[in-house]
Amino acid sequence: MPVDERLRQQLAAWLEFYRELGIEDFYRRPPGVGEVRQPAPSNPREARLQKEEPARHTEVAAAPAITKPKPEETAQSVPPAQATPAIIGGLHARSLNLFEAPPSPARGKPESLEEIRADLGDCQRCRLAAGRKMIVFGQGNPHAELVFVGEGPGADEDEQGLPFVGRAGQLLNRLIQFIGMKREDVYIGNVVKCRPPGNRTPERDEIETCSPFLFRQIEAIRPRLVCCLGAPAVHTLLGLKEGITKIRGQFFDYGSAKALATFHPAYILRNPREEKILREDFEKIRKFLAARP
Ligand code: URA
Repeated sequence: MPVDERLRQQLAAWLEFYRELGIEDFYRRPPGVGEVRQPAPSNPREARLQKEEPARHTEVAAAPAITKPKPEETAQSVPPAQATPAIIGGLHARSLNLFEAPPSPARGKPESLEEIRADLGDCQRCRLAAGRKMIVFGQGNPHAELVFVGEGPGADEDEQGLPFVGRAGQLLNRLIQFIGMKREDVYIGNVVKCRPPGNRTPERDEIETCSPFLFRQIEAIRPRLVCCLGAPAVHTLLGLKEGITKIRGQFFDYGSAKALATFHPAYILRNPREEKILREDFEKIRKFLAARP
C-alpha cells in the first residue's frame, strides 16, 4: 500500500525522536487496548571504548530552542507553575516542532526515580562508562520544588556516586543554606552521570545519550524551578546557544516549570569575585520559591 508522503515524514521524524531518546525497540498496540507505558530505552548504543582524548573543552551543540528568553523576572512577575503537561527538555524540542501532540514517553504515567534508576542499570551506553568508578544518578528529595543540574561528576563524585560532594559541592551547599534551604530539600543531578576523563566537558553524543534520563528524572520530580548550573546544563535543558554570562540570572519557561540559568559553582571557585553575582541569582531563586503559586 503506498504511504502518504506526509505520514511517511512524520513517522521518520517520530522514529528519529525515539532514537535520540535511546529507544530502538517498537511494538504495535492493537486498537482498543488502553494506554500503555512506552517501552524503556534498551540497548541504545554500543559502548565505544576510545582512547581518551587530551582534556579539552568542547562547546555543546544546542538542541533547538523551545523556550523564549524573557526579560529578567522577579518572583512577583513569574507566573505560577501549574500542574500539567510534560516538562520538556531541549532534546524534546524537535518533536514539538513536528507534532501537535509530541510522542513523548513523558506523557504516560509518571515514572518514579527508582524506575528510572533501574532502567539506567549498569549503563554502558556511551564511552564514559569505560572510565567511571560509579554512576552518579542524582540525589535528593524526590518531590523537590527545586532541582539543580550541573555538568557531570568530578573525581570526588565518581568516588562516592553522589553529585556535588567536592569543593564545588561545598559551595553549592552554602548557597542552598543561604536561601534558607537544606541540601535534603532539593534534588541535584547532572547532564551526564559518569565522570568525563580529566574532567573535560561532556561531548555532544555523550550528552545526547545520557540526558534523556535527566529529563525523565525532572519529569518524575515535577519541580517548580530547575536551576541550570553552567553552560552545558543551559544548553542541554533549554536548547539555548547564548553564553552563560549573557543569560545568567534570567528565568525561562521549562514546560510548566521555570528554569534559571546561572554560573557553575566551580567557575566561582576559580573566580571568587563573581560569587556576589551567584548569590544574586540564588536570591532570585529564594524569592521565586517564596512566592507561592
Ligand atoms: N560539577 C558538576 O557539574 N557536577 C558535580 O556533580 C560535581 C561537580
